[in-house]
Amino acid sequence: MVVCGAVAAAGVACGMPGSPPQASAAEGQASSVFTPAHGTFRSAVNDYFWVKQRAEQPIEFPHKTHIEKGAKCTEYCHESVTKGPVAGLPGVNTCMVCHTMFATDRPLIKQITAMQEKGLDLQWQRVYRYAPQAHVRFNHAPHIRAGVECSTCHGDIAHQTVAQRNIDLHMGFCVSCHRQKHAPNECVTCHF
Ligand code: HEC
Ligand code: HEC
Ligand code: HEC
Ligand code: HEC
Repeated sequence: MVVCGAVAAAGVACGMPGSPPQASAAEGQASSVFTPAHGTFRSAVNDYFWVKQRAEQPIEFPHKTHIEKGAKCTEYCHESVTKGPVAGLPGVNTCMVCHTMFATDRPLIKQITAMQEKGLDLQWQRVYRYAPQAHVRFNHAPHIRAGVECSTCHGDIAHQTVAQRNIDLHMGFCVSCHRQKHAPNECVTCHF
């Protein structure tokens, strides 16, 4: 992986012999060119340089519209956030729990309906994710139990369309709250 990144930095195509670099493939979709950690050429390069670029989502999902209609972050879409480490990202079947009824005539809803009919799923890009080299262990559930709001770590996604990276979750951010709240603060609390 590192060799691959270094070669890419020098401007040389990087991939298996005979297969072109897939810079144009949507990130997050599987390709045979890279290891599972690097679905595409671009993601391999970004990962190497620790670039946290803006996510490009398959659908302009309007968070604001859903929150205004009374949907909760922890219902349907990010249900596992209260139960364990990962918040989870909704599949198309989750959307269709509601969208067989709501807004069925809108173009974007027709698009997801068609995806479900074809057995395709939504390939969301994660907006927050640590590079594997940072060896960070994070767990959502204890924070939700302790009453830490989503917005403390993710900003005002409730008023955004597509989720943006509003807050830089660097180590100092985590450690200073842990110090304040007397939460565990040893290196192994957050690192493996
Ligand atoms: C809990 C029910 C619920 C779930 C789950 C849900 N939605 Fe919605 N969605 C709504 C409601 C209600 C509206 C507003 C409809 C209206 O404007 O009348 C809406 C609106 C939308 C719109 C705006 C439509 C337009 O063009 O005006 C899009 C796009 C959308 N949803 C996509 C999704 C996607 C993608 C998912 C799955 C990730 C999803 N929704 C999951 C209830 C839901
Ligand atoms: C204490 C800070 C913190 C709080 C509070 C928090 N998150 Fe996160 N969230 C993170 C971090 C850190 C990541 C990235 C984790 C990683 O890379 O392993 C993340 C990742 C995510 C992701 C990306 C996909 C995934 O499954 O990890 C979603 C979605 C998400 N959070 C939703 C939520 C929601 C919804 C809430 C509130 C119910 C919430 N988060 C509360 C810190 C937080
Ligand atoms: C706003 C305050 C706050 C922020 C920011 C925060 N945490 Fe926490 N964290 C807590 C609290 C409170 C607990 C719960 C402690 C408990 O259950 O006794 C906790 C618990 C944890 C735990 C579980 C510890 C254990 O052994 O039970 C981990 C892991 C963790 N945090 C990692 C992180 C990481 C990584 C970040 C940065 C992305 C972060 N936290 C940001 C307040 C925070
Ligand atoms: C409360 C959680 C937390 C604790 C405790 C913690 N770290 Fe971190 N650490 C992080 C997070 C989150 C990152 C990733 C920052 C990023 O990628 O932006 C990080 C990154 C790092 C890095 C990579 C360089 C960097 O700054 O990005 C090193 C090295 C590191 N931590 C060492 C330590 C050591 C040594 C300790 C114990 C003295 C420690 N950490 C304790 C959360 C924590």
